[in-house]
Order: sequence, then structure tokens, then C-alpha cells
Amino acid sequence: MQRLIGQRVLLGVTGSIAAYKTPALVRGLVAAGADVQVVLSAAAKRFVAPMALAAVSGHAVRDDLWDENAELNMGHIELARWADVLLIAPASADVLARLATGQADDLLTTIALATTAPVIVAPAMNHVMWAHPATEANMDTLIARGLTCIGPDVGALAERETGAGRMSEPTTIVAALEQQIAERETPDQPEPLAGRRVLITAGPTREALDPVRYLTNHSSGRMGYALAAAAAAAGAEVVLVSGATALAVPEGVARIDVESAADMHAAVMAEIATADVFIGAAAVADYRPADVAAHKIKKSEGDAEIRLVRTRDIIADVSERYPQVFTLGFAAETTNMEAAARDKRTRKGLSMIAGNVVGPNDAFGREDNALFVVDAAGERYYERDSKTALAKRLVAELAQRLAERHTASI
Ligand code: C5P
Repeated sequence: MQRLIGQRVLLGVTGSIAAYKTPALVRGLVAAGADVQVVLSAAAKRFVAPMALAAVSGHAVRDDLWDENAELNMGHIELARWADVLLIAPASADVLARLATGQADDLLTTIALATTAPVIVAPAMNHVMWAHPATEANMDTLIARGLTCIGPDVGALAERETGAGRMSEPTTIVAALEQQIAERETPDQPEPLAGRRVLITAGPTREALDPVRYLTNHSSGRMGYALAAAAAAAGAEVVLVSGATALAVPEGVARIDVESAADMHAAVMAEIATADVFIGAAAVADYRPADVAAHKIKKSEGDAEIRLVRTRDIIADVSERYPQVFTLGFAAETTNMEAAARDKRTRKGLSMIAGNVVGPNDAFGREDNALFVVDAAGERYYERDSKTALAKRLVAELAQRLAERHTASI
């Protein structure tokens, strides 16, 4: 399907080895119906031949802000206005830094500043550069400004290393662009979860020590509530089993309030039989006090000890007893997040898992988050974004997996 017909794509290519894939990217864009003009950074020319890009795009390639002939033909401001979308692929760490600070010292960054078209970047760099706090801060700035990021993917990198930093494949980039344009043109989305029942846990649990004290955690419930809102907006019938939070019930969602992990387990088991999807976004206590004192525990001179016993794992029980239910779990980790997420998905038998880093400055209580998503289709990172946006993306993916399952079974 030619879903980019009539779309004018300005492709900025910057200095990364992944630039060698850009002739294939241009071909893909042109095959989808787009009109493509290419702007190269100075470093990009070391990795890809301008002639090759001119041949596949059908336009002369631009690389110089001071090229009088080219400027007479179409000035850089005209080029910025011409674009329906500015796609920068590969986007090097350097260009991300320059975009974040609003520099305009070459043709591409000048166009980026002069255009009102949406900007999409497909980063490509060494994994240590991608994980560097400077790059992270630049990406946070750019995303907060409304820029969209595709990838990077996890895999083998040019330096014989492995990690997150590979530019997404040209076909993935074309598909992401098509999706973005389709969304822009049809803002009234169909309801991909219509007729589905989604059960979600959210928030912390409270494990009583006595009538006035309990053990709990910092979970705000925001991710679970955002998922409930996104699933309801996607047409699902949503039941939210929630620990104590300060959040309002999203529109169209039925909430069941619970306190302890045992209460949450019981509420989930009472609702799960008719569910199509179970999302475990709650931060469920792994342990509870072995004994709950009937009266407030009095202090005494010496120290005290609390004996803790394990609670039941709700999501693992769901996936074992109801294998037909699509299960999405979370892995909130302070260290080795990716490995822990993969391991949890296998151990608990989950359809999909979303890993995230938690700590004093991450995740809990914050409005935004970044995710590492693993399912049967593979692994990918969701860039730092609002929990609302991340929830929408997770729900869209999950709806797609359900639809694929349905198609596969008929
Ligand atoms: O093992 P861990 O607690 O890190 O696993 C996190 C995932 O498992 C989350 O999706 C959480 O909601 C779910 N979970 C659960 N019941 C428990 C513990 C965790 O459903 N008792």
C-alpha cells in the first residue's frame, strides 16, 4: 500500500555508519509514494555516496548552507517549508545535541530550526554514547518539544559490541512514518479493544502489622491508571483493582479498591475468568508480616523484629491458571533491568513485559518513564515519555498482538 502518497519527506542523514542504509531507506519511502529530498551533514558524506542518494531520490542532494546555486534553486527556508516531515536517519549523538541546543551552523540544523513540520529521528550510535546522561538529557529535551524517536534497536553494533544503538531497519522507519501520518489523518481512531475485557492491577499494597501500621512502597499507581484510561479509550471494558492511591478513577473504568496483596489476589481471581487481558501494574508486596497484631503493638525498651512470609504472585498465578489470557507484567528494577525483565517474563510465563528503572529519580511518582518492552516479537525501548503516552503505546501493541492471535486461530 502506498501510504505516503503526496508526502514530502526531507531526509537528513548524519555521520554514523548506519548512513550506508539510507539509499534503501529512500527507496522504501519512494516506494510508499513519498517525494524525498536528502540533506547530508558533512560527516554523513564519509559513510554514504551523495550520488547514490541523488539517484534513488531523484533530486540533487543538498549538503551546504553556502551553496549559491542550490540556494538560488530552492533556498534553505523554502526547503524547510517544503517538508511535510523532517526525518533524520541516522541521527548521530552530535546532531541530537545540536538539535537540543537549537544550533543552526549547517544546512540540516538550520532547516530543523526553520521548519514547522514534525521532526522524527532514528538515532544510531555506540551503546555507551546512547546511554550517556548527556544524550539522555538531549533526548528528554527533544521529546518534550514534541519530536518523535524511532529506535534505536538492540543488537550488534559496528564496533563488534552489542547493545542499544543500532538504527532501526529502513522498513521499520518507513512503517513508523506511515503510522504517524495515518494517525494524523484519521485522529478518530477505531476502537481496537472493543469487545475485550481488560483487568488491571495498580498502585501499592499495604500489609498490616497491627490495626494502625503497615508495610508499603512508593508506587503512585500512575502507570496502571494510565493503562486503564488507554484501554478504556481503546474500547475495552476495564476493571481496575487498585491499592491505595490519590488518583481519580479514569472515565469508563470500574474500580475495585483493595489494601493487601491477599485482597488484590482475591479480587483478581474473582474477575479473571472472563478477562481477555490481565495487566499487572501494581507494586505488590512480596512479603507480609507473618502475624497481624489484634491491637496496636506497644513499644518496649529493646529492639523489635518482624517475621515476614511470602505473598502469592498474582500475575504468575493468572498466567498459569488462565493461559488464554494475554498477560502484561512490569519489572521495576534498580539494577540489570533488561536481564531481569527477560528473566521475569519467562519465569512468570507472561505474554509481554515492560521493564523500567526505579530509584530516587526514576519511575515511582513521576509523570514520565522509559520502558524496555519484551514479547514474542522481540525487544525494543520506548523512549522517555509521559506515562499517558507510554500507556497508549503499550495498549496499541497489545491490541495488535490480540488481533494477530485472533487471526491465527481462525
Ligand atoms: O517479581 P516482581 O515483583 O518484580 O514482578 C513484577 C510483576 O509481577 C509486576 O507486573 C507485578 O504487578 C507482578 N506481581 C504480582 N504479584 C506479586 C508480585 C508481583 O502480580 N505478588
